[in-house]
Amino acid sequence: MSPEVRRAADILQCGGLVGFPTETVYGLGADASSREAVARLYAVKRRPADHPVIVHFASAAQAFAWATDVPQGAEKLAQKFWPGPLTLVLKRSNRAGDFVTGGQDTIGVRVPAHPVAQDLLKAFGGGIAAPSANRFGAISATTAAHVRADLGNDVEVVLDGGPSEVGIESAIVDLSGEGAVLLRPGRISRLALEQVLGTLIHEKRADSPRHSGGLERHYAPKTPARLVPPHELDREIARLKDKVAVLAFSRPDERVEYWLRMPREPLGYAQKLYAALRELDEAGCESILIETPPDAPEWAGVRDRLMRATS
Ligand code: TXA
Ligand code: MG
Repeated sequence: MSPEVRRAADILQCGGLVGFPTETVYGLGADASSREAVARLYAVKRRPADHPVIVHFASAAQAFAWATDVPQGAEKLAQKFWPGPLTLVLKRSNRAGDFVTGGQDTIGVRVPAHPVAQDLLKAFGGGIAAPSANRFGAISATTAAHVRADLGNDVEVVLDGGPSEVGIESAIVDLSGEGAVLLRPGRISRLALEQVLGTLIHEKRADSPRHSGGLERHYAPKTPARLVPPHELDREIARLKDKVAVLAFSRPDERVEYWLRMPREPLGYAQKLYAALRELDEAGCESILIETPPDAPEWAGVRDRLMRATS
């Protein structure tokens, strides 16, 4: 274990905050068993106190100790997808304070796969509460530099584990009630989850637990951003008198101030998405136009983030 990871674990033990890499996005971590540390985390994130936070563990056994009445489906999903980009919402045990659950009787738990996250979790030994390492509502961080740019000196140490491989946040499956509910799509497809569970996964319902990913505007650039169908992109660019920044699969025919080409397959697209949105946001344009990706199941995670970025 590196001295940086050891130091980061010590900071967590003393109630401090640590930026660290996961395979999905960078997390801003705090000791999940400390009310004061979590309060600090919420203050730095500028996150409302009634929004629950995901607690990260080194192993499924540890994660399930913070939950109660763990259903067989959770064991199956954990067996198949942990460590990895999946969060399970379960009934909480009394190990989990109400300050990490937003006052609800459920808890979101995840075992991340990134080797630096694993090292940190092992060195620390307990649960690490970690939302994405950006201010509330802003674009998530997928590099250590993003974390530094967003949070500056509000975070004592940022561990650098390179760019996040998945690029969008974990899929969240709620197993705390009757049946399974997909609260947030991610890299792991709904079909893959259903195959392991052996049952259908329901759509997010209006009465599902609150979660900040469910807020309308989230993961959003400061520049107004809009989705535009592929065949309308050039017409829309021509129509606008603004300086436009464009995220597209190929070079627009019309002249634009700034544009970025995105991969035509969803895994590569997701990996680049947040860095690309940040870059377009910095381009000094009046609007951002995003070519709508295909309406296919494997694009669900990307489309979800784009809908929020443009709502
Ligand atoms: O990939 C990820 O999940 C990243 C990395 C750092 O692990 N974390 C992340 O955390 O995206 P955050 O806080 O930005 O988003 C967590 C989502 C929120 O929408 C939160 O409200 C929801 O998970 N959540 C957490 N606990 C929950 C619960 N008990 N019930 C319903 N939703 C919950
Ligand atoms: Mg977030």
